[in-house]
Amino acid sequence: MKISPWLSLEFWDFPMTSLDFTPQHFYTAPMMNVPIDTGKQGFQGLTVAAFESRMAKEMEDLILRHGGKPLVAPSMREIPLVENQAIFDFFERLQANQLAMVIFLTGVGTRSLFQVLESRFSKSDILSTLKKVTIAARGSKSVKALQDYGLPPSIVAPEPNTWREVIQILDTQKPILGLRIAVQEYGVSNPDFLDALKERGAIEVLPIPVYRWALPEDTAPLVRLIESILEGKVQVALFTSANQVQNVLDVAKGLGKEKHLFEAFSKIVVCSIGSIASEALQSRGLGIDLIPEHPKMGFLVKEAAEKSVGLLEEKKKISPLSPVKKTDLQESLFLKACRREPTSRTPLWIMRQAGRYLPEYREIRSKVSFLELCKTPELACQATVSAQEVLGVDAAILFADILLISEPLGFHLEFAQSGGPIIHDPFRSAEDLKRLKHSVITKGLGYVLEAVRLIRSRLNPAIPLIGFAGAPFTLASYLIEGGGSKEYSHLKNVLAGDPSTWNGLMGRLVNATQDYLNAQIEAGAQAVQLFDSWVGILTPEEFQKFALPFLKTLIAGIKPGIPVIYFGTQTEPFYPYLKNCGAHVIGVDWRVDLDKAREQLGDLAVQGNLDPNVLLTDPPRVREKTLEVLKKAKGRPGYIFNLGHGILPQTPMENVRVMIDTVKNWKA
Ligand code: CP3
Repeated sequence: MKISPWLSLEFWDFPMTSLDFTPQHFYTAPMMNVPIDTGKQGFQGLTVAAFESRMAKEMEDLILRHGGKPLVAPSMREIPLVENQAIFDFFERLQANQLAMVIFLTGVGTRSLFQVLESRFSKSDILSTLKKVTIAARGSKSVKALQDYGLPPSIVAPEPNTWREVIQILDTQKPILGLRIAVQEYGVSNPDFLDALKERGAIEVLPIPVYRWALPEDTAPLVRLIESILEGKVQVALFTSANQVQNVLDVAKGLGKEKHLFEAFSKIVVCSIGSIASEALQSRGLGIDLIPEHPKMGFLVKEAAEKSVGLLEEKKKISPLSPVKKTDLQESLFLKACRREPTSRTPLWIMRQAGRYLPEYREIRSKVSFLELCKTPELACQATVSAQEVLGVDAAILFADILLISEPLGFHLEFAQSGGPIIHDPFRSAEDLKRLKHSVITKGLGYVLEAVRLIRSRLNPAIPLIGFAGAPFTLASYLIEGGGSKEYSHLKNVLAGDPSTWNGLMGRLVNATQDYLNAQIEAGAQAVQLFDSWVGILTPEEFQKFALPFLKTLIAGIKPGIPVIYFGTQTEPFYPYLKNCGAHVIGVDWRVDLDKAREQLGDLAVQGNLDPNVLLTDPPRVREKTLEVLKKAKGRPGYIFNLGHGILPQTPMENVRVMIDTVKNWKA
């Protein structure tokens, strides 16, 4: 195949180390370190579908060498924007000193941009104009294109080279507050990236579209491949870009077979090269079975070859929820209330419902430490399911802890005998950004995902399972303080320092938490809750600066259609902002008036409000205070009964029973 810059493709999600597209280079660059396995562990003759265009031949060879039968059909074609006025307008604004930074996202796009500019301006003019501004690059290919042109970038995003790393590196190295920024685009615009730039205070974000993607001129091979998948002839599908996902599903839709394709994908092993392709799959409602350790084609094929046979067997074992059961679940009191639909009675669950107040929990805990309990999926499953069954509440919450994520991020976590967490090597300064690990978070927390799968297989099929994580602010606070705190002096020190330190830490936490929650959803959680227990120490101004933008970015990346509950304490002053943070349900503590909270939170559902200390009194008082909350809620849609914070360890079971019975028997 003859390759011209206009015809060649580059994948947002497929960063390679070489810009030279000759086959020899292709093989030596991304696959150099990937041992080829031709033995029994490979695909073992499975049929593997891929949607490569420029890389079709290479993909085919790789699948063959790993023992699979390749079925590859191109799904994309690049259309040049030769008459691109936007590029000239952009350059004129650069010449007039109206832009402070240019972010280059792709290698081919960068080269093409220069080519278009050179049709009107001299290279020396182009260079001298661009040298006046900050040049940022997303990955190795844009870096190479810039270097070749004589414009080495001063800011380079690290692997896996998605837009999130661009944001993260800007947060740490070059805060963009008050700047005007141009972004070289790679085809379809990425609104999440542009929004994230604006949220960090850029006063203007100017997209420069350089090329667009279209379907191949001849879609017949792609249609045939889709039909093979529908006919059950394919066992593995490999996606290496978001555009592929979009085009494959659009073609299936055009054939009136999108739904059938979804069903077919649910039975086979679906592999995604990295987070952007994964997002595209998840946003269309498709599950992902495998993401390789590195976002490279060689790793994708190698890991798919190693795991597909096993994954296929697993898929056969775990029977998918039958349509009726799925409806039961979606029609559960809890999920209906999250969606603000009317319910026959007020749903309830209890924060920390599997805790020390519960005899069944103490029984499990008498044998293992808290961390061992969290890390043993069988026991975590038992704790979760037994709490839901003993209490008869309307939702189960995964048994885990918000601080588990600190371990794969590179911290040393311990729970002392007294129960309190200790981070032995807390985060204190910009230096510590260097030791934040960027490994795949869902690998380090595989035991939690295993617990979710087990819980979903054992829990009453009509009861929703809530997954959870710490909200970035509270997580960061724990990582900085190293444990519980009264003064928050270390935290305040970091907040008062160079913004890039806080932003860098928060950026990493947002990415990690997003991956973690999406993986919990993928494993079987029907809703997710973010715990922001410490956020109440901030003023509304600080909240807007240090917590809100990160919270919004995080929530925006959670799989659509899944209710997100945001819980914090002393958050009443933040309600005007929380209203638009993206969460569907807001957890309220006992310090607020429920009526007022609901009024201020407008269209959002509300959860909580009973003071956990009420449960330390006596049954008549528990009944009275529970009724008080229920009467305030008035049975209006969109309210979930809960405590205003976690249940206390010394709570008597009798009082818990009285509270639950009162809620279940109350009629508006
Ligand atoms: O709600 C549930 O039942 C799910 C499990 C869950 C736990 N922790 C188990 C746990 C959840 C959702 C959490 C969240 C959590 N963990 C938060 C946010 C909510 C809140 O209470 O503010 C925070 C700040 C943590 C960190 C943490 N874990 C602390 C401060 C402690 C010690 C104090 C305490 O409450 O016990 C823990 C330990 C912990 N997490 C226990 C449980 C059941 C007790 C451990 C034991 O058995 O000794």
